[in-house]
Amino acid sequence: MILILCPMRVLVTGGSGLVGRAIQHIVKEEGGGKEGEEWTFLSSKDANLMNMEETRAVFQKHRPTHIIHLAAMVGGLFKNMRVNLDFWRNNIYINDNVLQAAHEVGVVKVVSCLSTCIFPDKTTYPIDETMIHNGPPHESNFGYAYAKRMIDVHNRAYFQQHGRYYTAVIPTNVFGPHDNFSIEDGHVLPGLIHKAYIAQKEGKPLVVWGSGTPRRQFIYSLDLARLFLWVLREYNEVEPIILSVGEEDEVSIKEAADAVVAALGFKGEVVYDTSKADGQFKKTASNAKLLRYLPNFSFTPFNKALKDTCDWFVANYDTARK
Ligand SMILES: NC(=O)c1ccc[n+]([C@@H]2O[C@H](COP(=O)([O-])OP(=O)(O)OC[C@H]3O[C@@H](n4cnc5c(N)ncnc54)[C@H](OP(=O)(O)O)[C@@H]3O)[C@@H](O)[C@H]2O)c1
Ligand SMILES: *[C@@H]1O[C@H](CO)[C@@H](O)[C@H](O)[C@H]1NC(C)=O
Ligand SMILES: *[C@@H]1O[C@H](CO)[C@@H](O)[C@H](O)[C@H]1NC(C)=O
Repeated sequence: MILILCPMRVLVTGGSGLVGRAIQHIVKEEGGGKEGEEWTFLSSKDANLMNMEETRAVFQKHRPTHIIHLAAMVGGLFKNMRVNLDFWRNNIYINDNVLQAAHEVGVVKVVSCLSTCIFPDKTTYPIDETMIHNGPPHESNFGYAYAKRMIDVHNRAYFQQHGRYYTAVIPTNVFGPHDNFSIEDGHVLPGLIHKAYIAQKEGKPLVVWGSGTPRRQFIYSLDLARLFLWVLREYNEVEPIILSVGEEDEVSIKEAADAVVAALGFKGEVVYDTSKADGQFKKTASNAKLLRYLPNFSFTPFNKALKDTCDWFVANYDTARK
C-alpha cells in the first residue's frame, strides 16, 4: 500500500491574539500539532487584512490549505457603544478579504470565528446555532454583530456557488493568558482582573462596572484552542457550531468578580457602579450540538482557569497588553 501524505498547511489569522496564542500553545507546547502539518501564525504586522492586496499577497506567499480565521477588531461593551461604524466596516473588510483570498488560492477549509454576543437581543433561551439571524442584535454592539453574522452568509454562499467547506465556530466570552487586559475598552473578565490588581496595589476598593447581575458563559482560551483543532480536522458542516461550557456553568458578573478577588487574594472592598451600563442581561447558549459530537470533552473548571490567568497576568504584568 502506498501512503500519500498530503501536507496540511494551516494559516492562522489573528495568530498573535488571545485565541491565536492559545492555539500556538496547544500546537507547539502540548503536542497538538500532527506530523505533516505546517502551522503559520499571522499578526497585523504580516498583513493588514483590511486591505485586499496585502491579504492576497500573504496568502500567495504561504499557500495555505487550511485557515483558522481569528483576525478581527474586537473590544468590550464600552468601546463597542462608541464606535459601531468602525466595528462594522473594519470587520466586513477583513472577512470579505480573507474568505475571497482563501477561495482564490484554493484553501479547502476555513474555520472563522463568530461570537454568542451577535445573537438576537430578544430571543428564547438557550440560544442555539439555528437562531443567529432571527432578529436584531443588542443595540450596544450592532456594528460588530452584523459584520460577524455576515460570515455565515459568506460561508453558505461559498458552499452553494463553489462547493467550499468554509464554516464558523461560535465561542462565548473567551479569557486566558495573552488577553488584552485594557480596563477602559476591554472585555469584562480581563478588565476586572486588571482593576483588582491595581486596587490591591493601591489599597483602594475594586469598582465593578454595572450591577453585577448580568450572566455570562466563559470559555478558557486553551479549551477553545483544543476545540478549534477538532473543528479544523473533523467537523464537516458549513453550519456553525457553538463552543461553550454548559448552561449550568453560566456565572453572574458578581460571581466572576468574587472569583477574581479570590484568585488574586484581593483584601479590599468591592463596590458596584450602577451608573455604568450592564449590556445584554444574558445570552445563555446551548452546547448540545458540541456534546453530540464530543460527549466527553472536559472543560477546565472556571476557578482553576481563572487562577491560571490571574497568575499569568501578575507574572507578565509589564509586557501584558493592557
Ligand atoms: N475575546 C473574546 O471574548 C471573544 C469571544 C467570542 C469570539 N471572539 C472572536 O475570536 C477571534 C479572536 O479574538 P481574540 O480575543 O483572540 O482577539 P485579540 O486578542 O484582540 O486578537 C486580535 C487579532 O487580530 C489581529 N488583527 C486585528 N486587526 C487586524 C488587521 N486589520 N489585519 C490583520 N490582523 C488583524 C491582531 O493582530 P495584532 O496582534 O498584530 O494586533 C490579533 O492577532 C475574533 O474573531 C473574535 O471576534 C472573541
Ligand atoms: C465517553 O466516555 C464513556 C465512559 O468513559 C465511554 O464509554 C464512551 O465510549 C466515551 N465516548 C466517546 C465518544 O469517546
Ligand atoms: C488593548 O485594547 C485596547 C482597547 O481596545 C487598545 O486601545 C489597545 O491598543 C490594545 N493593546 C494592544 C497592545 O493591542
